[in-house]
Amino acid sequence: MERDGAGAVAVVTIDREEALNALDVATLTELRDRLREVGGDSAVRAVVLTGAGEKAFAAGADIKYMSGLDAEQAKAWGALGHETTAALESMPKPAIAAINGFALGGGCELALACDLRYASARAKLGQPEINLAIVPGWGGTQRLTRVCGIGVAKDLIFTGRTVDAGEALRIGLINEIADPVLERALEVAHSLAAKSAGALALAKRLVNMAPDALDAEAREFGELFDSADAKEGLAAFVEKRPPRFTAR
Ligand code: CAA
Repeated sequence: MERDGAGAVAVVTIDREEALNALDVATLTELRDRLREVGGDSAVRAVVLTGAGEKAFAAGADIKYMSGLDAEQAKAWGALGHETTAALESMPKPAIAAINGFALGGGCELALACDLRYASARAKLGQPEINLAIVPGWGGTQRLTRVCGIGVAKDLIFTGRTVDAGEALRIGLINEIADPVLERALEVAHSLAAKSAGALALAKRLVNMAPDALDAEAREFGELFDSADAKEGLAAFVEKRPPRFTAR
């Protein structure tokens, strides 16, 4: 992890280049801890997440490690991934992914947990878990759906296909293609670090609340059926007459 001179922007680098930054227990645990640390440090106003080297942001969870897990161990492994993505999503400051190459499986899920995603033209993204007969386990089924919509999420998760940077931009998976990508991510991070930290934190919290509206919708939709206006509106349609609403 590095910080700029004033400490306002922290760069967290996934550093396991020999395995294309695939995340094993040690790497993922350290990543979670670093993200929690910068998330809780009020001097840090924005965080950039990237991968070491030229080839990969992160090629996913370590498949060699996962190949030996039973269900209980896999649950603990999934929980560690969720803690890491939650650290990105819940930190009260912008988290920006600088996607410098492959962002596959858990790598794509880390990027999805960031607030903004910038990618090099050579980046390749996807959720290829289905090809291993598993599914995304660090929030991908939810966050990819949230970011790109249910149609795109099902396409990428069902087929396991990889998209290049151009397609990723078109489907809304990334915000922008930029090279050198870290430079661009830092530029945005510094511009955000200069804004009101309180207003930014609130904006992030409110935008991230959006999925919770689904529960609220289900509840409120039902409760509305007790209202006089709903009874009237539905009845009026059935009786082929204009409704007479009374409530404000
Ligand atoms: N786990 C463990 N090791 C990995 C890895 C991974 N996810 N991805 C790459 N590596 C290792 C390779 O085994 C190889 O190591 P060795 O030199 O010791 O053999 C090294 O990184 C370089 O990889 P390649 O030789 O395969 O490089 P390439 O350029 O030919 O291919 C690639 C690059 C297309 C990314 C390919 O490595 C690949 O397909 N990797 C797996 C991607 C993947 O399926 N990710 C999803 C994992 S599942 C997951 O993440 C679940 C979840 O939701 C949490």
